[in-house]
Amino acid sequence: MNLTAARTALSAARRVAVLTGAGVSAESGIPTFRDAQTGHWARFRPEDLASPGAYRRDPDTVWEWYAGRYRDVLRAHPNPAHHHLAQLERQKGAGLFLATQNVDGLHARAGSGTHGGQLVELHGNLISARDEVTGETFPLPHPDALITPPVSPRGHRMRPNVVWFGEFLPEDALEAAQAAFAEADVALVVGTSGVVYPAAGLALETLRQGGVVIEVNPEATELTERMTFSLRDTASRGLAALLGG
Ligand code: OAD
Repeated sequence: MNLTAARTALSAARRVAVLTGAGVSAESGIPTFRDAQTGHWARFRPEDLASPGAYRRDPDTVWEWYAGRYRDVLRAHPNPAHHHLAQLERQKGAGLFLATQNVDGLHARAGSGTHGGQLVELHGNLISARDEVTGETFPLPHPDALITPPVSPRGHRMRPNVVWFGEFLPEDALEAAQAAFAEADVALVVGTSGVVYPAAGLALETLRQGGVVIEVNPEATELTERMTFSLRDTASRGLAALLGG
């Protein structure tokens, strides 16, 4: 398949499923998980900050780190890649399903999930927290007003609302994504290395059902060989080429 055929397939598709990863937020200047380990934090491994064990041992340090990442994402802005995907939802309405592995909340800020389609944050987000007793999630106050660890309106301690090393993805989010990818005429896989479950599994589900899978990534990935078409470009340029007028 070439770019023209990929554009045609996308524009004709009634159901489109999209999976995004860290590459989509790279152009917003969000440090990836590992790049965020600078300065004071360089002596911590990600596993020492983002795991249930780390939180049990030292909740204050874990919250301090998440508060810093939360501050970073509030300073960042959605980039053209986020806006292209929100625009695609305006075209497809309920036929658009967007699953992201990113926890920065930038797809929601670009308007995804508000034009009739669905946005699922597979790994949670940094801008809310979860009541440790009831499991309910609540928005966090602005980082300047955030006292850690935050306490929920129910009076219980809250934990970051993200999926940690050694934890499972929320079952309902994963099931919704699997169903959407199985039903998709076209799946888009943008800015993800495809090494971490469920990225690989979702795209392969679309292929198994006879759909088209298009990858946008400046580098070849574990998934590239299986793709119907791979666009070797950044998320913003690649999506402009696929979706632009
Ligand atoms: P990775 O850091 O594994 O991969 C980022 C991908 O983005 C790579 O394939 C890059 O080539 C690509 N990339 C870089 N710049 C880009 C750009 N401007 N446009 C498009 N693509 C670009 O990130 P993810 O695949 O998101 O999990 O990783 C998935 C999960 O693994 C993360 O959510 C995290 C991590 O462990 C948890 O925190 C649970």
